[in-house]
Amino acid sequence: MSDLELLSTVPIFTDLRSIDLEELHGRMSRRTYAKNEIILMEDEFGDTFFIISKGSIKVTRVSEDGREVILAILGQGDFFGEMSLLDGQTRSANAIANDECEVMILKRHDFLGFLEKFPKISISLLTELAGRIRKSDQQIESFALSDAEQRIGVTLLRLAEELGTIHKGVVQIAKLPYQQDIANMAGTSRETVSRMLKLLEEKELISRKAHTLSILDYTKFRDAFM
Ligand code: CMP
Repeated sequence: MSDLELLSTVPIFTDLRSIDLEELHGRMSRRTYAKNEIILMEDEFGDTFFIISKGSIKVTRVSEDGREVILAILGQGDFFGEMSLLDGQTRSANAIANDECEVMILKRHDFLGFLEKFPKISISLLTELAGRIRKSDQQIESFALSDAEQRIGVTLLRLAEELGTIHKGVVQIAKLPYQQDIANMAGTSRETVSRMLKLLEEKELISRKAHTLSILDYTKFRDAFM
């Protein structure tokens, strides 16, 4: 898929005519990042907005005692870096390449200019941000759960939503993040993740093969953990 085709599939830009998409594309630059490379850092001043054209990134914050908390994993067609452009403050979190990834970059001036010129982009952006707040609310709620199985269940549901594909009620998460990353999303330890994945397998709620995890009956799984 060309960068221009990809831009036309990004939800916040779907209302743009092709001529406007071309203008947007003309104002963007491109960059590639290696796995684990830092794309932007919490507390830095930022001047750029990013759209992921290939691969995925993780959005993290580091707690006082040095633990990484993963706020989100974003993939192809997702955007990041908008918050500091909108409120003029420093970056709210770190963005780190999860695998080799490619991004399209728009400068603050052009980003804000497009929002002013096309109010529909602003509305779509708000819709997307509302969705992110909902996910964060669920994450905060799940952190309060003492039951580790429940926490991992909620985290797997989030990964299913963000990275999964569904076919006949089975959701496949093809590139399951490392167990340490799942632990950092769920606010628990890698050992607990390993134990809980085994337990969920024994209960025949999930199956695993290489890096793919399948939720065998998505509706049943949702009912159990939401
Ligand atoms: P900004 O603050 O400019 O830089 C860090 C980016 O991480 C931020 O913009 C958002 O794009 C993204 N981000 C921060 N918090 C979350 C979250 N809870 N979910 C998804 N993305 C986030």
